[in-house]
Amino acid sequence: MEILTTLANVHAWRQRNWDPSTPLVLVPTMGALHEGHLMLMREAKHLAGVAGKVAVSIFVNPTQFGPNEDFNRYPRELESDAAKCDSVGVDMIFAPDPGEVYAPDRSLSVLETELSKRLCGASRPGHFDGVCLVVLKLFNMVGCTHAVFGKKDYQQLAIIRRMVRDLNVPVILKGSETIREPDGLAMSSRNRYLTPEERMQAVEIRRGLLAAKDAWRKGEASAQVLKDGFVDHLQKHAPLHQLDYIECVNKDNLAGIERADAHALLATAVFFGKTRLIDNLELGVASSHPI
Ligand code: PAJ
Repeated sequence: MEILTTLANVHAWRQRNWDPSTPLVLVPTMGALHEGHLMLMREAKHLAGVAGKVAVSIFVNPTQFGPNEDFNRYPRELESDAAKCDSVGVDMIFAPDPGEVYAPDRSLSVLETELSKRLCGASRPGHFDGVCLVVLKLFNMVGCTHAVFGKKDYQQLAIIRRMVRDLNVPVILKGSETIREPDGLAMSSRNRYLTPEERMQAVEIRRGLLAAKDAWRKGEASAQVLKDGFVDHLQKHAPLHQLDYIECVNKDNLAGIERADAHALLATAVFFGKTRLIDNLELGVASSHPI
């Protein structure tokens, strides 16, 4: 496995190592890798097959952080990340400095005007434009044919799908299931910031979503009732939380819906202290996780 930091070295690596008739699969990340990221890499290995290659980018992207967000304190641990990538058979890590990605006088951007206004986008203005910009740039820099993203960041995946469609980006996308801790909490690099008490209560996000799904399966289709049930659940079981949002949306275009059908997605963001956790649940899809 090679660790590269410049675009020139990526081009040289591609020339030397990649047969263009085979897949080159990219897993974009910001590092601080956990089992969720490693599952995306295994999925990428599968897509690449024996002849193709898997690249992972590790880049804490400044343009997707708001002024009061955790860009500076976002964990940076390239050495242990590299060992994890190596252990699942990644072929190349691209870990550029911000200066390699962004020219100081850059004057072009990517603007998404619909899907990014909802859910997380409502409380993080500009976030998804920063994500689109860096993802498009990483696709172009690595020259990948395929890319894998996690469904944990469901809105991010939906917006990247939209970008690929609307800008005819020649990359095939694959969405991968959310990987969870044994108790059901979605794995996230931010879970480490939780106090033991917050960590215990954070599992109620998943339980509240599952309770709503259960109510839906038993015939409750009112999005408002499902959302209210989730709010009640957290109030009862997670006194340390502060709700950012709980929404019931169509899972393709993320538009709010009043009646939950088999295409509905429940999506939520919850604060514990300063730590913001997200999770979601597709109502019409059987969960692969036991909890
Ligand atoms: P990051 O938060 O590092 O996540 C990288 C990828 O891992 C994303 O596709 C995310 O959905 C996926 N992921 C994170 N936790 C997961 C889990 N528990 N189960 C499955 N997949 C999980 O998302 C970003 O970085 C950035 O916005 C990025 C796309 C790299 C652009 O900067």
